[in-house]
Amino acid sequence: MFSKIIATGSYLPENIVTNRDLEQQIDTTDEWIRSRTGIEQRRIASIDQNTSDLAYEAANRAIDKAEIAAESIDLIIVGTCTPDVVTPNVGTIIQERLGIKNSAAFSVEAACSGFIYAMNIADKFIRSRDASCALVVGADTLSRITDWTDRNTCVLFADGAGAAILQPSDTPGILSSELGADGAYGDLLYVPYGTSRKPEQPKPDDYCLHMKGNEVFKVAVKTLESITLEALAKQNMNINDIDWLIPHQANTRIIHSVAKRLGIPIEKVIITLSHHGNTSAASIPLALDEGIDSGKIESGDTILMLGFGAGFTWGTMIIKL
Ligand code: ACO
Repeated sequence: MFSKIIATGSYLPENIVTNRDLEQQIDTTDEWIRSRTGIEQRRIASIDQNTSDLAYEAANRAIDKAEIAAESIDLIIVGTCTPDVVTPNVGTIIQERLGIKNSAAFSVEAACSGFIYAMNIADKFIRSRDASCALVVGADTLSRITDWTDRNTCVLFADGAGAAILQPSDTPGILSSELGADGAYGDLLYVPYGTSRKPEQPKPDDYCLHMKGNEVFKVAVKTLESITLEALAKQNMNINDIDWLIPHQANTRIIHSVAKRLGIPIEKVIITLSHHGNTSAASIPLALDEGIDSGKIESGDTILMLGFGAGFTWGTMIIKL
């Protein structure tokens, strides 16, 4: 038995911040941001929108497309590193809003790999028959942990949510999924302080993302290449068996380098970050939903999703849609 994605949904906040807008706030240019990152604009949640609000909208759209009753969902997993609050978890907040009564609900914290981690777990629940209908969401409001005076990071990060509904199926769905992590890279992309670790002498960026961009870039490219080759080898597949590659949407230069190393034509790579920036755990399900909605990705296609995030954490998932 397989778990299969029966529908996807996504949501981006209405507020658009363009590169030109950022030119007015920090020492940068539209040209620099476009050429170094591929980003043209990003969406930023309004002050009264929390991560759960974005997650709820994406989940609702996926439920509508799946044409299922929300009550049939018996597992909710949300990948996020920017939960509304420490507790209740984002999963339970959207459970209540969706009117779901009989489900487990929890969040997974694996930064930009959060969606792949959450899908990997949901797949195991479905195949072990511990769940019969899973709602998996990747949602983040990175704008809330971004230092908007730091040009090294604020041009990259943004807000959004994407969701998928998984059900058991006799026909192939999720073919494989591998997760990995290496905490030795923790200091390349991190938030210095948080819930239990407090600064002795607080500074304005204590609760914001700090990043060594160049080093992240190098490790990301190498890791994404090697985990792809491992995932394909385990399935006795090669890159030509993949119809669509959906990498984490962090930077088009990272994506182009990985595609080149793998020998996959860039036309077979879903790239959506130009209009929404790096939305962390939301980025892969956003790209998946957009790929399906645009008619590029069709039923029966084989898709390789690649997650990479702070920690570092990473994950692959090969699916037949
Ligand atoms: N506008 C203008 N100039 C800038 C900006 C900016 N927004 N940001 C940095 N610069 C300057 C730097 O100060 C530096 O100037 P200097 O040479 O005078 O010191 C110059 O541009 C070059 O800086 P680099 O950091 O070498 O630029 P690089 O080409 O590496 O691009 C970037 C920086 C875009 C951050 C790149 O390293 C990158 O994309 N890294 C990966 C980071 C990433 O994707 N993080 C997301 C997390 S991955 C994931 O999601 C976990």
